[in-house]
Amino acid sequence: MTNHDSMEPQPSEATLAARGGWAEPFTTRTSSPPVYMTTAFDIESLEQLDAVTGGREKGYIYTRDGNPNHEAFANDVARLEGADAGVVTASGMGALTAVLMAMVQSGDHVLAARVLYGRTGQLLNHMVASFGLKVTYFDVANVDSLKQALTPQTKLCIVESISNPLLEVADLPEIVATLNGIPLLVDSTFGTPCLIRPIEHGATLVWHSVSKYLNGHGDVMAGVVVGPYTLIRKIRAMSSLYGVNTNPFESWLASRGLRTLPLRMERVSQTATQIARFLQTQPQVTRVFYPGLEDHPDFALAQRLLPKGCGGMLAFDLAGGRSAVDSLFRALAHVIPFSPTLADARSTVSYPAGTSHKFMTAAERSEYGIGDGLVRLSIGLEDPADLQSDLTKGLAAIG
Ligand SMILES: Cc1ncc(COP(=O)(O)O)c(C=O)c1O
Repeated sequence: MTNHDSMEPQPSEATLAARGGWAEPFTTRTSSPPVYMTTAFDIESLEQLDAVTGGREKGYIYTRDGNPNHEAFANDVARLEGADAGVVTASGMGALTAVLMAMVQSGDHVLAARVLYGRTGQLLNHMVASFGLKVTYFDVANVDSLKQALTPQTKLCIVESISNPLLEVADLPEIVATLNGIPLLVDSTFGTPCLIRPIEHGATLVWHSVSKYLNGHGDVMAGVVVGPYTLIRKIRAMSSLYGVNTNPFESWLASRGLRTLPLRMERVSQTATQIARFLQTQPQVTRVFYPGLEDHPDFALAQRLLPKGCGGMLAFDLAGGRSAVDSLFRALAHVIPFSPTLADARSTVSYPAGTSHKFMTAAERSEYGIGDGLVRLSIGLEDPADLQSDLTKGLAAIG
């Protein structure tokens, strides 16, 4: 019987339009997860509200607090990393914000690697200036400097498994041993769980810029953090409170990207090794940074901690400095574009001194080895022979 046959008075157009008529109209399951693009979830009764909030019934209330797409993605990453649970956030920086809000307060001390993604350092410095956090930066290659920087107020240590942009590898087992129970947060954006699983080495939490490899297609802005249940519950509460949650479609896209992560990481590791060796032979290039090369200071460590490969990120220094970088980027513009991101399906180049590490002073950059001629190359899924040919032409344009 349709509404027309019924004796019930028809709702007006305004009511029909406002209410719609959606209610799962079939019994078979979708093969791909639907996007739960909803702000909130309808609740049958106050009894159900209590059951869901009390954890006795599986349900969601409000998308800022939780949504099936967020949960599906975070759980997949947690499984891959060997963690209990995870939280997906608006960006990698959102994940770091939620972790800091959950784990430190004014007067606490945080240790962080000296060379990190520039905005990570910038956020920590902001928290020093605005919230009275104390931060000490240490040299990841020198664990003694970590030991010396520990204080009774140290509540957290932050490192990258493979650093941006110089591809330093963190000796996670040694760092964990030195921290002696102080929580370690590892940014494993460059590493991914396909190359290194920091929790197996004793890390407490792992976070990613999902905008990079986990999604892998250059069309998502999201972050994720995984770790033990109790901590993740606190971090999720902070993500919701500070509103650094993402939206369901981003989580859905990230879940789709994650399906091919192992294949992509294997491929980019192979191509990056080949391209790194090629760049070493080029006269315009003074130094190549890739931990899979024998002359990288962390080569032996990488062999131990990254047995499946060193990933798709590499960096190289051009003798001609900033103007050589500019010529190279112009020549590569339509094949390997200058795009201040990484881990897209296509290869891209970036300029750390002008983008990710712009917020450091020039003196800090040069002290840390981020010179004016440094190019960061994100290797994509192209045929390695085509990439080599494009780079050959690009380098020739430097003159
Ligand atoms: C290593 C690393 N960590 C964290 C971030 C921040 O992630 P997002 O841009 O998703 O906030 C980035 C961004 O480039 C990154 O490269």
